[in-house]
Amino acid sequence: MVFNPLKQIRLKPLTLGLISSMVLSACIEIPQEMSEDTASANDSENQENSDTTEQTDTISSSDRDLALPNLSFNYANITLPEHFLVNNYPDSMPFQKAVVEYDNTPASNPITDAGATLGRVLFYDTKLSANDTTSCGSCHIQTFAFSDPERLSRGFDGGHTRRRSIGLTNGRFYESGKFFWDERAGSLEEQVLLPIQDAVEMGMDLTTLVGLLSAQDYYPDLFTRAFGDSQVTRERIALALAQFVRSIISTTSPYDLGRAQVESPLDDFPNFSNQENQGKRIFNTPGNDLPSCAGCHQSEAFVGANPATNNGLDRRSTDDFGIAESTGLETDEGKFKTPSLRNVALRPPFMHDGRFRDLDDVIDFYSRDIEDHDNLNPFLRDNRGQPIRYRFNRDEQRALEAFLHTLTDTQMINDEKYSDPFE
Ligand code: HEC
Ligand code: HEC
Repeated sequence: MVFNPLKQIRLKPLTLGLISSMVLSACIEIPQEMSEDTASANDSENQENSDTTEQTDTISSSDRDLALPNLSFNYANITLPEHFLVNNYPDSMPFQKAVVEYDNTPASNPITDAGATLGRVLFYDTKLSANDTTSCGSCHIQTFAFSDPERLSRGFDGGHTRRRSIGLTNGRFYESGKFFWDERAGSLEEQVLLPIQDAVEMGMDLTTLVGLLSAQDYYPDLFTRAFGDSQVTRERIALALAQFVRSIISTTSPYDLGRAQVESPLDDFPNFSNQENQGKRIFNTPGNDLPSCAGCHQSEAFVGANPATNNGLDRRSTDDFGIAESTGLETDEGKFKTPSLRNVALRPPFMHDGRFRDLDDVIDFYSRDIEDHDNLNPFLRDNRGQPIRYRFNRDEQRALEAFLHTLTDTQMINDEKYSDPFE
């Protein structure tokens, strides 16, 4: 953990090895600190939990201590920079909008500090998997921009996921509000319950989970703060997880620092090297009738255009039909959701199947390998109907890559509020 200015509340989940009726009743008793109304920002009374019960027998890998700050982190009122609020792209880029216009937060589930705090605990709790080994954070790792360095992720029972784990930066700003590479989840609230029940990922049944979570000593209070009473339900689990995921936004990268000093995203940024500014120009206006990268990686959240599209990775779809798998439409074959390019440099390998090892390979692909798929985005065809070639030279390629690195937000990646609260 990088910084920790706040006092911590420490709870020691007792191991099953300690179970006797006496100890069990102590275990499910709400520790005093947590049962007070600590949601109040003025409450500075809380001391370190004096419960010093030692773990004497460990039979579960998840018997870790939960450490939450005394005063909640700010999730609900993250200040958005001016360039998220106002669209300053020129009229020549009519597809561009201000980031806030893409916000998919439903009125029924606004982010609250208590809700996202509960979501954070759930996100990192291995209890959500059938054998207590795997949490959401196992495949969405903060240092890898909430993706996984492995091409495919390993589930609770050792099996591999079918597709690559998607980085979770700026999920709040996908205009369609749909999730997964094939957009099969209609909302984030719907999405977050699916990995829990997925046979490869976490293998847990929701009814069992509700009972299991109700029996943990740390949840009743977290649910009470978030929802008014301690009842654990699948709906509340979904709402809280969605709030936490939606709170993961990047606003403090070198891009943002530079952007704050100029009028237009197309101006050179004073904090950028010549190479980074050149890369930014190429990204926005590659020239020679070539389509802007920004046309599909839109706004200053660099999110995928809506609807999802095909960028010519393959000539034919053979084993993964993308969006067509959820819509059943042939015209959707080979189309995939485009993840936000925020923090992209932190999470190779790339694309839905992780086929590209690094950004160099991605840019090589756009340079000369776009394939003639039936559903190839029309912008990626020239006036004779052939797939275009960006043909970046070495300098341009390096510049583009340098620019993509300016979207790396180290502050966000080290922010304790998104980190594993179990220790
Ligand atoms: C075993 C690894 C694994 C675990 C555990 C896991 N995920 Fe994922 N996650 C993935 C993979 C792989 C995908 C992409 C799957 C696809 O699109 O078909 C994904 C996709 C997502 C997406 C979609 C992102 C987008 O932009 O569309 C979200 C959100 C997400 N996961 C959240 C969670 C949450 C919340 C949990 C815990 C409840 C979780 N994941 C647990 C591997 C995992
Ligand atoms: C016509 C739309 C379109 C254009 C133009 C476009 N992209 Fe993409 N891009 C996509 C789609 C769709 C994906 C995801 C494809 C998949 O995984 O199946 C993608 C994926 C990527 C990824 C990988 C993201 C990840 O998380 O795996 C990078 C990096 C990228 N594009 C950079 C660029 C750059 C740089 C340019 C300009 C040279 C560009 N794109 C132009 C549509 C486009």
